[in-house]
Amino acid sequence: MEKQVLPRREHFGSTLGIIAAAAGSAIGLGNIWRFPFITGVNGGAAFIIVYLVCIALIGLPVMLSEFIIGRSAQKNVIASFKTLAPGTPWYLVGWIGMASAFMILAFYGVVAGWTLEYILKAVANGFAGKSPNEIGALFGGFISSPMRPLFWQFVFMFLTGWIVYAGVIKGIERYSKILMPLLLILIIILDIRALTLPGASGGIAFLFKPDFSKLTALGFLSALGHAFFSLSLGMGVMITYGSYINKTENLGKTALQVTIADTAIALMAGLAIFPAVFAFSIEPSAGPGLVFVTLPNVFLQMPGGYFFCILFFVLLAIAALTSAISILEVVVAYISENFNVARHKATIAITIAITLLGIPCSLSMGVMGNVKFFGKTFFDLLDFTSSNILLIAGGFFMTLFVAWFLGHTRAQREASSDGQFPVTYFPWFMWAAKYLAPIAIFIVFLHGLGIIKV
Ligand code: PHE
Repeated sequence: MEKQVLPRREHFGSTLGIIAAAAGSAIGLGNIWRFPFITGVNGGAAFIIVYLVCIALIGLPVMLSEFIIGRSAQKNVIASFKTLAPGTPWYLVGWIGMASAFMILAFYGVVAGWTLEYILKAVANGFAGKSPNEIGALFGGFISSPMRPLFWQFVFMFLTGWIVYAGVIKGIERYSKILMPLLLILIIILDIRALTLPGASGGIAFLFKPDFSKLTALGFLSALGHAFFSLSLGMGVMITYGSYINKTENLGKTALQVTIADTAIALMAGLAIFPAVFAFSIEPSAGPGLVFVTLPNVFLQMPGGYFFCILFFVLLAIAALTSAISILEVVVAYISENFNVARHKATIAITIAITLLGIPCSLSMGVMGNVKFFGKTFFDLLDFTSSNILLIAGGFFMTLFVAWFLGHTRAQREASSDGQFPVTYFPWFMWAAKYLAPIAIFIVFLHGLGIIKV
């Protein structure tokens, strides 16, 4: 039997709170740091179209599947499977989620820590008078130095732990409701700035005028993998958050709104970045350094750049924080409920454990750069294993579970709150969850493991 610490499970207090928390999880470094650079690397608009198709056809069904599992079981990710499928090995899917939570938060906390350093650098006007090469060297020097990145990783993990410590309503929901509107305002300001620069049209064309000859099979696969990462799927975040959703909420609509919000913010991040990159004739395919190296350069050349640079890194830090709390919550919910430990104690212990796991990730950018596991640094190992294997495997089984194990009737009853809110797209959802999503995910999975090469 699963033991419960709380007499009654906490539930999000309002529809807005649910959307803010779930969209807060989805919108993160994935949207503002990763999406722009992989779009740049994959040639722009054609890649975006494929990404949008992946989001709509595969991301949305997987998200609704997770919500259905969590809300019907009213449990953490492992106990949900034990409740809905007692005596079967389905609960192992929850363990996949637990493992990916540890790994992703370990390296996510490192990159999120960099954003804090960059807020300070921006405030101190630390990029002024530097050449593009010097700005690149500044970034390289910072991430490879041992102490400063660790310090910022600790600060970021402390903030994450602090919010989760306060609880589902007083922590996660409350801060998401403050931080997400702020994020929206910041990104709108940055969009207006970028779009009113002379020469912005090159960036708009790059984002919206497809050139399909630039699209490779690898681009298609990265689009699907990124859709998973960006929507926070496959780990059980949406199962855990789903378990905090009241039966009086419309699940189909919530899944749709969160998916649209995540996609809109990714596109808005692209609109804030590429017009500026093109206006100053900078190469759009800079890779992971796009945000930390290319953008400070762009801001230096732009009127008002000093303020916009600060705003941008604040935006990045906020986005990272609301995602990190969702990852931590997956583990905290499980440990506190399963072992009957107080939530506070569980939060402290898990935050410390994950921060410790992040230390070698951070050091692998410098002093531990030569320590390789299967040819990868510790950072890359965790990133690769979690994003390319665990999330995808998790999402695959979660979708199969709803489509084939729970089945049409139970899934429909939960999704529609016993018929209160019929999900208009339900027949399509079932088809996608049964066939389309698992097949597509399987192909990506084989690719992630390097079994099929394109
Ligand atoms: N969706 C988050 C982002 O885009 C990352 C994340 C992945 C969060 C998986 C939770 C689970 O940054």
